Amino acid sequence: MFTLIPQIVIGGADLIAAFLFLFGLKRMSSPATAPSGIRVAGVGMVAAVLASFLYLFTVDAAARPHLLVNVGLAVTALLVGGAGAWMVGRKVAMTAMPQMVAIYNGMGGGAAGAIAAVELFGGRTQGATQLVVTLLGGCIGAISLSGSVIAWAKLDGLLKAPFRVTGQQVLNGLVFAATVAVGGVIVASALGVEGLGLTTPTWIWVFFALALVFGVLMTLPIGGADMPVVISIYNAFTGLAVGLEGFVLQNPALMIAGMVVGAAGLLLTVLMAKAMNRSVANVLFTNFGTPAKGKPGAIKGSERPVEASDAAIKMRYATSVIIIPGYGLAAARAQQKLYEFVKLLLAAKVSVKFAIHPVAGRMPGQMDVLLAEAGVPYDMIFQLDDINDDFATTDVALVIGANDVVNPAARTDKSSPIFGMPILNADKAGQVYVIKRGQGKGYSGIVNALFYSPNCNMVYGDAQAVLVQMIEAVRGLGAAAA
Ligand code: TAP
Repeated sequence: MFTLIPQIVIGGADLIAAFLFLFGLKRMSSPATAPSGIRVAGVGMVAAVLASFLYLFTVDAAARPHLLVNVGLAVTALLVGGAGAWMVGRKVAMTAMPQMVAIYNGMGGGAAGAIAAVELFGGRTQGATQLVVTLLGGCIGAISLSGSVIAWAKLDGLLKAPFRVTGQQVLNGLVFAATVAVGGVIVASALGVEGLGLTTPTWIWVFFALALVFGVLMTLPIGGADMPVVISIYNAFTGLAVGLEGFVLQNPALMIAGMVVGAAGLLLTVLMAKAMNRSVANVLFTNFGTPAKGKPGAIKGSERPVEASDAAIKMRYATSVIIIPGYGLAAARAQQKLYEFVKLLLAAKVSVKFAIHPVAGRMPGQMDVLLAEAGVPYDMIFQLDDINDDFATTDVALVIGANDVVNPAARTDKSSPIFGMPILNADKAGQVYVIKRGQGKGYSGIVNALFYSPNCNMVYGDAQAVLVQMIEAVRGLGAAAA
């Protein structure tokens, strides 16, 4: 009854799924094609899931009757999980996106860990190699699960201060060594070694418990602001774990999807570290969120505030304006008001561009998504390398809720913790306006030299409230002229 479908059909479906994943990923590299890329990858995911169910109707599956036992449960889990994700995904606020990514990533790691657990407890792994691969995938998946849950709690504000104790690294090292040792005991027990103290299932429980504790310990000391990098690392872990368990199950779709996710997570981690001028090793083994040691150079002068209306009118009569959005724009949810203001400038024949720093905001691509959500056309949005030379010939740079990404100390002050980080050259524009609420520092916790330079004025206030005033000021000009 269950031998109707030749294996080659499943292989074909897996191949189509893999192609769709890669094609979708390629399309995600540009904001213009990203929405369709996500849909294409989604279709790939449906193909992969279908292939997994079709597998039940093959000769191969007939030899593994345990696969048929939980089909009803698997379908129910798919329906419940799919519906839950659909509802949460539709409602989530843009600023809550990082924590959503964190928790979904953790679930991927947990799923890989669960596959490993099912195989291990069922005693179905064949030979030492398969057992080691299963343990490795299970361990990485469990670390990714518990670590991602801590990352989610930090991003959601449930866990506030970083948890650091003396000897933390040693403790982490010991827990990790114990996990590896227990993995070794499980392999030894499978090879027939006796007298290992506990039964094999008990050792498997201990193994997963240690891996979960390690994930928690590894993430607790890390500051909340560095969580995007942590999530990206766990993303790579989850991909690797899924790929390894795909090998165990001999499921090509899992292997390919896992490796794609793993490689993408790794690349993203490297790119983020580069954009923050930190090595991946520094990101992994120091307490994130703690600025590097060294006294930043003293800054002379004072900040000069101006009214929102004055800044708006100056921009209305400028020839060119470059807008630099940062974390504060997302926090204020001011993207719609910003675009409303920009449309008024465009109507007055002002050239307006948006400049995006690779780590502006709190997650990769956050600013691009924010602007796209407000309806800003893609051809107005430029990445750092493509726009940095334009600042020198631009009348006004408008910085909104951004700080570190425009701090010129990164270029000039060797003692600054952000020295060497690529920044947007806002200071080179004729006039700079900075919208922020007050003296709040950026993510790095250092003072921004730009705010004190002679060509810079501060417009204090919540980004949304300031932009409303700017819109009114420009509209007021039109009304006065009429
Ligand atoms: P930040 O340097 O964090 O500066 C944000 C500024 O926004 C603050 O100075 C704050 O000043 C202001 N602000 C906050 N809420 C506001 C509101 N409602 N209205 C107006 N202003 C508001 O942000 P950035 O320039 O976007 O830089 C991102 C930083 O995060 C970089 O240092 C980067 O290394 C780090 N980081 C980014 C990522 C990714 S992937 N994006 C990952 C890890 C780390 P006030 O309090 O005075 O308002």
